[in-house]
Formats: sequence, C-alpha cells, structure tokens
Amino acid sequence: MALYLITGIAGFIGSSLARALIAQGDEVRGVDNFSTGKRHNVADILGQIDLREVDLLDFDGLHQACRGVDYVFHEAAIPSVPKSVLDPLGSNRANVDGTVHLLIAARDAKVKRVVYAASSSAYGDTPTLPKHEGMLPNPISPYAVAKLTGEYYMTSFYRCYGLETVSLRYFNIFGPRQDPTSPYSGVLAKFITQMLSGEQPTILGDGTQSRDFTYIDNAVHANLLAVKAPASQVAGQVFNVATAKRADLNQAFQLLKKITGYPGEAKYGPTRSGDVKHSLADLSRSEKHLGYTPKVDFEEGLRRTVDWYRGQFKAAEA
Ligand code: UD1
Repeated sequence: MALYLITGIAGFIGSSLARALIAQGDEVRGVDNFSTGKRHNVADILGQIDLREVDLLDFDGLHQACRGVDYVFHEAAIPSVPKSVLDPLGSNRANVDGTVHLLIAARDAKVKRVVYAASSSAYGDTPTLPKHEGMLPNPISPYAVAKLTGEYYMTSFYRCYGLETVSLRYFNIFGPRQDPTSPYSGVLAKFITQMLSGEQPTILGDGTQSRDFTYIDNAVHANLLAVKAPASQVAGQVFNVATAKRADLNQAFQLLKKITGYPGEAKYGPTRSGDVKHSLADLSRSEKHLGYTPKVDFEEGLRRTVDWYRGQFKAAEA
C-alpha cells in the first residue's frame, strides 16, 4: 500500500484517479483550491481520502501535503485554452508557478515519483499527423505554453535533483464528472448535457477540426502504468495518452445525436482564438515504455458518458 498525493483531487481527472487508487487499496491524500474543482466530485469518497483545501501557491500547505507521500499525481491546473487567452497571467500562475511550487515540495519530501498532467496542446498546429513526442513543440495558446513549460520543469527536476518525473500528454480527456457548466468546459461535456436537456449545441468553426478524444479510463490506466514503469524507461520523459484515432466535431455531434436521441442540428459560431485544427496521437512511445494501449474507444466512451449524465439528470429530477 502506498500513499498518493493528488493535486486537483476535486477535478474531473483528479477525482477519477482517487477512485482508482482507493479501489486498488492505496491511501489517498488530495489538495484542491476549489477554483475549478467541485466538492461534489469527491462527496462519495470523503471518508476515504485526506482532503485538504490548499492552493498550489501555498508553499507551507504543499510541503505539509507532500510529507510521507510516495507518489504524486499532479492534475491541478486551470485547464482551458480560451481562459488562458483572456488571462495569460492567471494561467501562468496556476499552471507554471503552481507546478514549480509542487516540484520543490515533492523534491524536499523525497517523493518517489511525480506524474504530471501535460497537454497535447503543446503540439499546436504542426502539420504532421499523428503527433509523436520527438516532434518539436509548437504551442499556440498561453495555456499550451504553460503546460509545456511544466513538462520542461518536470524534466529539469529529474536532471538537476534526481526527482523521478513522468509527463503524460493528455489528448482531450472526457467522461463522467467533467464539468459542463463553465464557458470553458470541454466540448463533449457541454454537447452531451446540452443535447440531453434539449438545447442546441454550437460548433465553433466549420466542425472539421478534429481531436483524439480520449475516455477517462484510458487516462487513469496510463497514470497507474506511469507510477510502476521502470525509471530507466520513463523518468524525465514525455508520453502521449490518447487513442490514436480522431473524430471531427461534425462526426462527434452526429454520434451524439445517435446516442442521446437529440433530434435537432447544431448551430455554427466563430472559430475560437488559439484553437488547434487537428490533433491525433502516435502511441508508439507510450506502448513501448509504459505498456499503454487504450482500453475504451471513443464511441464506447461516449455511451458511458451519456449514461452517466443521464443518471445525474434523473437524480436531480427525483
Ligand atoms: C482540451 C482541454 C485541455 C487539454 C487539451 C489537450 C478542456 C476544457 N480543455 O483543449 O485542457 O489540455 O484538450 O488535451 O477539456 N468547441 C465547440 N463548441 C463548444 C466548445 C468547444 O465547437 O461549445 C470546439 C473548440 O473550438 C475546439 C474543440 O471544440 O475546436 C475542442 O475544444 P475543448 O473541448 O475546449 O478542448 P481543447 O481546446 O482541444
């Protein structure tokens, strides 16, 4: 049994990781400042976790949170491209300064390994598809720059201090508990909840932009592998976490129509500033060094996600 610290434990990905760790019998501590994390995401596991309201910029709080910890999953972030375009300083503070604080605290506490939520947005609009980790990054938005900077810090802390780090470049993770309510929410969470409540979704642009949409269980699986993989294979390295398939937004909308039964069409709005056109992962490196292959494909992931939001709607009505 190991003790894990999850930053951003009340978020969509952090709370999913917490459930997986509890299920395999590990001890879980979590920090969150509840800026985007939600208490209801951890309400059912409150008795099984050591939850602390700590901001990443609170050095003392983080040092205390890292005490005795074996592994850290660093998920806390302001995870939005458009929000970073509006507020680059805020994005930098949470995503870069927060990450450096966490790394110092983890180093000082002699944590065994830090696994970091990196982002496929680091690839930007490089024309090559699929994207592989050996490519030169080409970030567009301040968010992408900040997430990429976090990766460099991960590698730097491994090289300078010997703290084992692994960066996982997430490709559009979706699934139960993703917040659909903010203007910065992930597109699938928004579309699903809109379509289930009979509202018309808006496709920003012509809908031909594509993403390697990745169901949450795949991301959880990758994190668990990243903790166990031999340091010689993974420490200081970067890995894609995705499905190696892509769908454009028009296709995603059509699939959701089929699954939700929504009868209408989408409306179209202006393309978002800082938006990436296409995203698709090469998984060779993750397969070879992490032993990662996706477990749940896009359509099955959509079905499970729609079922979950349906359940939420029913529970709210009851
Ligand atoms: C997402 C993640 C980001 C992650 C990155 C790479 C979210 C909120 N952002 O960014 O944290 O690092 O993937 O994995 O999960 N769109 C619409 N209509 C809407 C909302 C969005 O058409 O109502 C479009 C956007 O313009 C974009 C696409 O959907 O083209 C995806 O947008 P979004 O879900 O915000 O994700 P990314 O920007 O790709």
